[in-house]
Amino acid sequence: MKVQKISDHVLSLGASDPGLQYFDKLMPTPYGTSYNSYIVRGEDKVALLDPVQSDSIHQLLSNLALAGVSHIDYILSLHTEQDHSGGTELLLQRFPEARLVGTGKVAEFLEIHLNIPASQVQVIAENETLDLGGLGLTCIPIPFAHWPDNTMYWLEEERILFSSDLYGSHYAVPPYKAADEKIHLETTRSYYAEIMMPTSKLLGRHLAKSRDLDPLIICPAHGPIWYEPDKVLSLYESYISGKVDKRVVMPVVSMHDSTKTMAYYLAEKLEGFGIPVNIHHLDDPNQDLRVSMGKVVEDTVDASCLIMAAPTVLTGPHPSAGALALMLNAFKPPLKYIALIGSFGWGSQIEKRFYDLLPQVKAERLDTLLVKGLPTEEDYKLLDEYARMLKEKLISPEKE
Ligand code: FEO
Repeated sequence: MKVQKISDHVLSLGASDPGLQYFDKLMPTPYGTSYNSYIVRGEDKVALLDPVQSDSIHQLLSNLALAGVSHIDYILSLHTEQDHSGGTELLLQRFPEARLVGTGKVAEFLEIHLNIPASQVQVIAENETLDLGGLGLTCIPIPFAHWPDNTMYWLEEERILFSSDLYGSHYAVPPYKAADEKIHLETTRSYYAEIMMPTSKLLGRHLAKSRDLDPLIICPAHGPIWYEPDKVLSLYESYISGKVDKRVVMPVVSMHDSTKTMAYYLAEKLEGFGIPVNIHHLDDPNQDLRVSMGKVVEDTVDASCLIMAAPTVLTGPHPSAGALALMLNAFKPPLKYIALIGSFGWGSQIEKRFYDLLPQVKAERLDTLLVKGLPTEEDYKLLDEYARMLKEKLISPEKE
């Protein structure tokens, strides 16, 4: 990542990881990611915000040299997940004069995750301002966006908000190119789905605080900087509102085409009623299951209904459906309805075993429709009825 001047006192000079394919070995990152780091220069002191991931520290050190930063007074840790904190010790070796600064939770977590003694951290309190001389960084903890330790810092004099993971995106902009807005918005949505949606109920306060501050610029820990903050704040307001579109997300896995036949038939009926259906194949041989699951999770940010179409394997759900259920349970999408359809060969406990994996998904569970073997003429009539039931549910006025 190149050194980027944000204002007379602020530089962006973090690291870029364009080849990253899966964040946390789980979330697809088709545009890679960046580990953003910022320098804030006051009249008296220099602060660095977030020391990047350990295997990217050489990029940060090189950028610091390029920017002529030969002295750092404070290293502020906004969040101790290793993609932002892993380079801390190497950075301290290069700048031994620097003091580590973080909230009490950051100090506690640095000890847990990096074995840096908490006593080595200068603890900063909520709303306390770190004076840099003519400029100050005010500490605003944002717990559970998305870890307990996430912290924003507010540079009042320039109205710049350093937002940690909040408002981020997994998008490594190619060197010497401007960010593509379409990709930026797309990756902001997938990032929200996979990082922030699980704690979405706790984000309203942080979002309101961000609005109150009325920043001119938002500098997140991943992805491009927001020079028009209203764009991302409005997106987040819509994401956390719980408002959903009347549409169906339909993940499908099928072994011998019976379940797929049912899924396609039902999707066509629903589309005929004017209910859009997005089918996601969990069994695409050309696509890693994590990519398919990531697309499903992203699609559930604002969809009213998910219909899992899965066959029974040894009395339980096909393991790909089970893996998706674990993901949905963790990510807690704001679905209003969830349903299960599929075929089985000789016996099934799929309904119980599937929903046992979903205790945290509070959507209304609709009737399950199971078919033995290939659907018969009678089964298609049941699917017609099922489609009518879904139509009633999804477009009934009281659920709008
Ligand atoms: Fe980007 Fe929670 O780390």
